[in-house]
Amino acid sequence: MGELLCLEHVSFSYEGGVEERSALEDCSVSICSGERIAVLGGNGAGKSTFFLLANGVLCPKRGTVFFRGEAVGRKKQELNRLRRGVGLVFQNPDVQILGGTVEEEISFGPMNLGLSRKEVRRRVDGAVEQMNLESLRRRAPQYLSGGEKKRVSIADALAMEPELLLLDEPAASLDPENCRLLERTLETLGERGLALAVSTHDVNFAWRWAQRILAFHDGRLVADRTPEEFFSDAGLLNVCHLEQPLLFRMARAMKICPLPRTAEAFERAVAEKGEKEGEQP
Ligand SMILES: Nc1ncnc2c1ncn2[C@@H]1O[C@H](COP(=O)(O)OP(=O)(O)OP(=O)(O)O)[C@@H](O)[C@H]1O
Ligand SMILES: [Mg+2]
Repeated sequence: MGELLCLEHVSFSYEGGVEERSALEDCSVSICSGERIAVLGGNGAGKSTFFLLANGVLCPKRGTVFFRGEAVGRKKQELNRLRRGVGLVFQNPDVQILGGTVEEEISFGPMNLGLSRKEVRRRVDGAVEQMNLESLRRRAPQYLSGGEKKRVSIADALAMEPELLLLDEPAASLDPENCRLLERTLETLGERGLALAVSTHDVNFAWRWAQRILAFHDGRLVADRTPEEFFSDAGLLNVCHLEQPLLFRMARAMKICPLPRTAEAFERAVAEKGEKEGEQP
């Protein structure tokens, strides 16, 4: 797996923030192509700050961000290269949304890349379909509901076809149907080889979906582990104000091994276990 993004000893504090406290402190991490990463941590832990630095919206106070092995400085050209490769869906969609209609909004990014009209259309149509926006295509994005805006902001990022997509709490304010749609979209994007990092407070989603967990607490990256390792560490979960996923807890209590990631896999494992126990004299 090729390395896409790397942060080396990156620190950042906001102007006007508490002086002695960094929003992100000495963060070193790298992300490779095709990875599926859940970014966890309580409110104010540093997740959004990490994403904003990873996509070049913020520049580090100390340390360096690398994209495909090249250091990203403050030059426009370098930042543009990073932003093209690393897409970001903001936690708050109002920050991102500008366009007159939903389809104009989604076409802004690809048009700015200087793509042909045909290619812009292909990307807009694809993103509209993926985010279930067909019926909202000609609506003004400012007047959409919170969840609808969120879907538009995700479509914006998809239309840019980045190599790594960062989604900051994408499911917040989505209804259950659109949560399922989002999860299916993440699944499809992952299968196509796009690297994904999703911040979330939903440990059940993280367990179902992620291959790797990054956890932040108090501006520090406190864990970079597999989901199995992370959710087995009660002390760490306590520090991060998180709990074990339900399936993880139930499967462990029933001594099911390997631990199933989905409800379907859990049901199958329970049925097999029942059959085996039934066979025993
Ligand atoms: N624009 C800002 N100005 C000053 N301080 C900020 C700003 N944005 C965030 N902070 C501070 O930086 C720290 C990290 O915030 P960040 O938004 O990265 O947390 P988070 O993990 O994304 O939290 P949440 O789960 O609430 O979204 C917090 O202490 C927060 O108060
Ligand atoms: Mg946040």
